[in-house]
Amino acid sequence: MHFSEIELKNFRNYKNQKVIFHKKVNLLLGQNAQGKTNLLEALYITSFGKSFRQTNDSDMIKFGEKNAFVRAHAVGENDDITVEIGLVKGGKSIKIDGTPVRKTSELLNHIHVIIFSPDDLRIVKDDPSRRRRFMNRELVQIRPVYFSSLMRYRKVLQQKNALLKNSVPDCGILDVFDEELAIYGADIIRTRASFIEKISLISNGIHSDLTESREDFRVSYKSDIPVSKDKNNQKSVILDILAENRNEDIERRTSCRGPQRDDLDLYINDRNVRKYGSQGQQRTAALSLKLAETAVIKQETGDTPILLLDDVLSELDFDRQKQLINSFNESQIFVTSAEIDRNLIAEIPEYEIFKINNGSVILT
Ligand SMILES: Nc1ncnc2c1ncn2[C@@H]1O[C@H](COP(=O)(O)OP(=O)(O)OP(=O)(O)O)[C@@H](O)[C@H]1O
Ligand SMILES: [Mg+2]
Repeated sequence: MHFSEIELKNFRNYKNQKVIFHKKVNLLLGQNAQGKTNLLEALYITSFGKSFRQTNDSDMIKFGEKNAFVRAHAVGENDDITVEIGLVKGGKSIKIDGTPVRKTSELLNHIHVIIFSPDDLRIVKDDPSRRRRFMNRELVQIRPVYFSSLMRYRKVLQQKNALLKNSVPDCGILDVFDEELAIYGADIIRTRASFIEKISLISNGIHSDLTESREDFRVSYKSDIPVSKDKNNQKSVILDILAENRNEDIERRTSCRGPQRDDLDLYINDRNVRKYGSQGQQRTAALSLKLAETAVIKQETGDTPILLLDDVLSELDFDRQKQLINSFNESQIFVTSAEIDRNLIAEIPEYEIFKINNGSVILT
């Protein structure tokens, strides 16, 4: 799919804006603080129902206004879709093709979007929570069941942790929580394991292209709970570990084991990139992961995801910039930047340039 247009009312620093997009490369250029990332955010929320920024829904309403509105239209090979998001203080409404939907999760799996920001370049260096977020963000788009397992798991984990804060928690209730954690946890672990297996294979090929075969890149899932060979056995593997750790949970007053402790190990030529990789290698590894993600979403959904590249060009050298934009020749791409090299533009076959200035978008 690709976004054909978007309309914004009182969204961040936009008062009233409509933009018609190019189906391939959209270059969004402007100085700092003009509204480039805000525009990507508006596109993103029509895919995920929430922002990629650590922000509340109501923060996206223009300062001094009571409500905001975003409408996007996306077109695929065989279908099209209109998504409308209304934001008011303390509430949000979503419509798909004019029909209200009750849950944000119903929005997932319609328009597939991948965001790539300088933050993502830190996926290698940052703490494990960023790598878990990487897995979650992609999996919720392709596996509705994963989304519901993840939400339920989190809710039960929260309840269990609240109970563990008591000096003498009720073991009967802890048993009930552990049983549920094992059910949802098993689904989370197995889904992550098979996703990372695919990502590893695909990103290895991509990374090899990016480095002219000099580097062998591998990703492995570092699951806190062993992934069992037999699918039906996963739940009891978790239950055993939770039982073994019951005393430690009580002592430390929190849940010590489970997929909330998962991580990924990343290697270049058999060396841990996090520990030994140069900055350039770490960025390239992040890039390979992102490119692989696009391929997996395409494999799983049959849809080519839309790419939002927020300020990443300036972090890469010219060859990698070129490689990045041209390796997605099937996707619609949005690229934000303060400025862009003319020589790079010359390498892009189909594009449109938009100038963004103080909350208004002008086609140049
Ligand atoms: N709710 C809001 N209402 C009005 N303005 C807002 C709101 N939230 C953020 N802004 C403003 O929007 C402006 C543009 O933000 P944005 O992040 O889109 O900038 P940008 O063009 O991506 O800049 P940079 O190049 O620095 O990343 C900022 O000045 C910010 O203060
Ligand atoms: Mg920005």
